[in-house]
Amino acid sequence: MTADTLVAADPPFAAATEDADPQDLAPVIPLRAPRPRRFLMCRPDHFDVTYSINPWMSTEAGVDRDLAIEQWETLRATYEAHGHTVDLLDPVPGLPDMVFAANGSFVRAGRALVARFAHPERTDEAAAHTAWLKSAGIGGGRQAAWVNEGEGDLVAVGDLVLAGTGFRTAAGAHTEVAAYFDAPVVTLQLVDPRYYHLDTALFALDDANIAYHPDAFSPSSRRRLERMFPDAVLVGGDEAAVLGLNAVSDGLHVFVTDQAPGLHVQLKERGYVPVPLDLSELLKAGGGIKCCTLEVRS
Ligand code: ARG
Repeated sequence: MTADTLVAADPPFAAATEDADPQDLAPVIPLRAPRPRRFLMCRPDHFDVTYSINPWMSTEAGVDRDLAIEQWETLRATYEAHGHTVDLLDPVPGLPDMVFAANGSFVRAGRALVARFAHPERTDEAAAHTAWLKSAGIGGGRQAAWVNEGEGDLVAVGDLVLAGTGFRTAAGAHTEVAAYFDAPVVTLQLVDPRYYHLDTALFALDDANIAYHPDAFSPSSRRRLERMFPDAVLVGGDEAAVLGLNAVSDGLHVFVTDQAPGLHVQLKERGYVPVPLDLSELLKAGGGIKCCTLEVRS
């Protein structure tokens, strides 16, 4: 067969017709599938800002606890409306940061490692988490030997654990987590005190991809993230500064602050569905949606 016969056999305008298909010009947006999650949350019945352990906290700011509870109840109801299960941890008087349940442990494959808090103001939260894990029949449940603020600094991306250090969780905790869970752990160095926990600067979109604010990380950690997640959603300073990255994704819906419209657009472009929520009262303690949410992974 010669080149001539090939050309002659093709309908003359086939290529041109295909090129004109408007679908070719539309961006390719992947279809995403949500996975139902089990979350642990703690109602902010005793929420307050009575001490300052991060740059967001001012004891002068004044907290409207009723509003905090209302915003938190909306978050809880929104999770349930999207098919997720919410377990409740009993709030303890005198522990005003206990609403940030994500810091209490890290649970993977039905096995937990309980936090060891960096600041004495939060130390007693660990016992409440230990008791809850026991009552829920979750395995393991020993307390970390190193300072370890649970999901605040440990972000699961599929089988991988991204682990932050620099302000709270000790680098030694990363080795401990790797051994305890027999999991690959990647250390990331946080450098901006506003992003004192990894979950203030990065979240998992699904089991393979993340969104993050590059400036929150040291140059070498940034390079590591670039290599590992070439398709990551990169989030700028404006969105990060309202804790836009303190978000929770179920693989499709992204529960995210309503103060980050630019991030909502980025998420939609990738086929995710932003679910905007107002947690402004809890932001006074430097916490957001993800901080209020511990995932109990079975
Ligand atoms: N006031 C709390 C602290 O400084 C906020 C914790 C936020 N939690 C989180 N997962 N980032 O410890």
